[in-house]
Amino acid sequence: MVSTKTQIASFEFDNCLMNAAGVACMTIEELEGVKNSAAGTFVTKTATLDFRQGNPEPRYQDVPLGSINSMGLPNKGLDYYLDYLLDLQEKEPNRTFFLSLVGMSPEETHTLLKKVQESDFRGLTELNLSCPNVPGKPQIAYDFETTDRILAEVFAYFTKPLGIKLPPYFDIVHFDQATAIFNKYPLKFVNCVNSIGNGLYIEDESVVIRPKNGFGGIGGEYIKPTALANVHAFYQRLNPQIQIIGTGGVLTGRDAFEHILCGASMVQVGTTLHKEGVGAFERITNELKVIMAEKGYESLEDFRGKLRYID
Ligand code: DHB
Repeated sequence: MVSTKTQIASFEFDNCLMNAAGVACMTIEELEGVKNSAAGTFVTKTATLDFRQGNPEPRYQDVPLGSINSMGLPNKGLDYYLDYLLDLQEKEPNRTFFLSLVGMSPEETHTLLKKVQESDFRGLTELNLSCPNVPGKPQIAYDFETTDRILAEVFAYFTKPLGIKLPPYFDIVHFDQATAIFNKYPLKFVNCVNSIGNGLYIEDESVVIRPKNGFGGIGGEYIKPTALANVHAFYQRLNPQIQIIGTGGVLTGRDAFEHILCGASMVQVGTTLHKEGVGAFERITNELKVIMAEKGYESLEDFRGKLRYID
């Protein structure tokens, strides 16, 4: 009997696979599609306080080894997602879902989180500290001072289960510095990684997306080694109460297996979900179960974090 069930904080999930924020999660219809698939749960599109149109199209392009996007945080505004989730938690009291959000300023982030705090929402909140695509707004989590200040302010009033979505880091010192900040706070999880920011993809003599002269976040096969490195670096460093969600380059069950081996408790699928649709969850789950069965693993705990090193 092989099981891919998992837990984040005190919440249980029948499957460790779910969508990555940004894919298949803008509308209730899309969220229902993920909910009713083999996925264990869903996360909403990152919500801002108000509806946002986002950047001009074309702004997302699938490419052979992954994807490039510069969406610019298009979303329906916090109330749309929060109202849906409040309704859903009454209809499906035995399941838990993720709400992703970030403000266009630290002040707006606090307004959003205070609304969630004051609501009856009982799920998990993911604060997105890593959107690379809003012109003039840097990826928050690359600014350690600001990140520390925002988290200190947030935990002065926010008592519900909260995690953060991180951009990829590329230097060991940055893993150390980021961890020193995150370990000060009662975070329930960190999600590694968001897209690798500000890549360029060229076809013939042209970029393939309109915003920012073609610069956009890279996902898919390109980013798996970076994603795994971030999952494992934080798994090695973070207080064990802070769990890891692994995101980046998950095309197959083998990729999900590697994320879990690096320490992930939940695995998110972005680019592959965009390319393949919600059927990807069943396929990847089955592939993961075959690998686990071959190795004699019955649960994720049997191999989570147990990456082997060469002496
Ligand atoms: C957007 C893209 C991202 O990769 C992200 O993490 C958040 C937002 C976007 O452009 O909407």
